[in-house]
Amino acid sequence: MGLGDRLRLRAALGRKYRRLSLSLPARVDSTNARLKGLARDRKISPPYLMIAGQQTAGRGRLGRSFLSPPGTGLYMSLLVRPESMEEPGRLTILAAVAVCRAIEEATGLQPRIKWVNDLFLRGKKICGILAEGAGECAVVGIGVNLKTPPGGFPEELTIAGALDAGADRMRLAGLIARYFLEGMETPGDPAILQAYRERMPLIGREILYTRNGQKKSARVTGVAEDGGLMVETEGKSEILRSAEISLGSQSFAGLE
Ligand code: BTN
Repeated sequence: MGLGDRLRLRAALGRKYRRLSLSLPARVDSTNARLKGLARDRKISPPYLMIAGQQTAGRGRLGRSFLSPPGTGLYMSLLVRPESMEEPGRLTILAAVAVCRAIEEATGLQPRIKWVNDLFLRGKKICGILAEGAGECAVVGIGVNLKTPPGGFPEELTIAGALDAGADRMRLAGLIARYFLEGMETPGDPAILQAYRERMPLIGREILYTRNGQKKSARVTGVAEDGGLMVETEGKSEILRSAEISLGSQSFAGLE
C-alpha cells in the first residue's frame, strides 16, 4: 500500500488517533485471526489496527466465511482492551454505529442495521462485523463490500450487496476506527445505544428466530443495554442474545 493510502488513513483517524499502531498487509488469511495470533504471542498491544487488501480465509459469524476478494472491499480489524470484559455484543453495537457514521459521512448514504452485526443498504448486506475475545483483549473485525465484484457476487450469496458509492477505502477505514475508538472511551454512553436503535428498523416488526433447532416467531420490542434483542413471544418478554433471526416471508426491503 502506498504512501498516499497511509496519509489518507492517518488524516481520517484525526489528531487523536493519528499515531495509532497499524499494519496494512496486501493479503492475509484473516485480519481477525492474524491479530488474535499476534496478541497471543505478545507481538502487538492494543489499540492496534490491521487493514488487508485481500483475505484468503475471511471469517464470518457462526463459522461462516466472508468473501474478501482484492480491490472491492474493506477488511479491517481492531485489537482493543475493553475497560471491563464486556460482552462482545456491546463492541458489536459500537462497531455497527461507527461503520454507519463513517459511511454516512463519506457517502451521504444511510445503511440500516440488522441485529446484531449486519449492515444493509438497498435491501442487501453490505457489511458484516465479527467481535471475538482474545485473552484480556477483543478483536473487532469489520468487512465492508465497497464495490460489486466484476461479474457480481457468487450466486449463493443472494443477500450480498455493495456500497457502490465510490468511497475511498482508507478514508472510510480511518473514520470507522476513529468513531469506534472514541466510543470505547465512554463505555456505557447511552448515546451509542440510541444511535444503534435509530438505525435499526426491526423494532416493532415480526421476526422468526431459531433456538435449539426450533423456529419461533416474535415481535421485536427493542435493544437491551448489552446488545440483546428484546422480543415478545406468545405474550412473554425475553431477550435474545445469539439467536439467528430472519424476517420470515417478509423481505429485507425495510432494511435499506
Ligand atoms: C459476518 O458477516 O458474519 C461477519 C463478517 C466479518 C468479516 C470481517 S472482514 C475483516 C475481519 N476479518 C475476518 O476474518 N472477518 C472480519
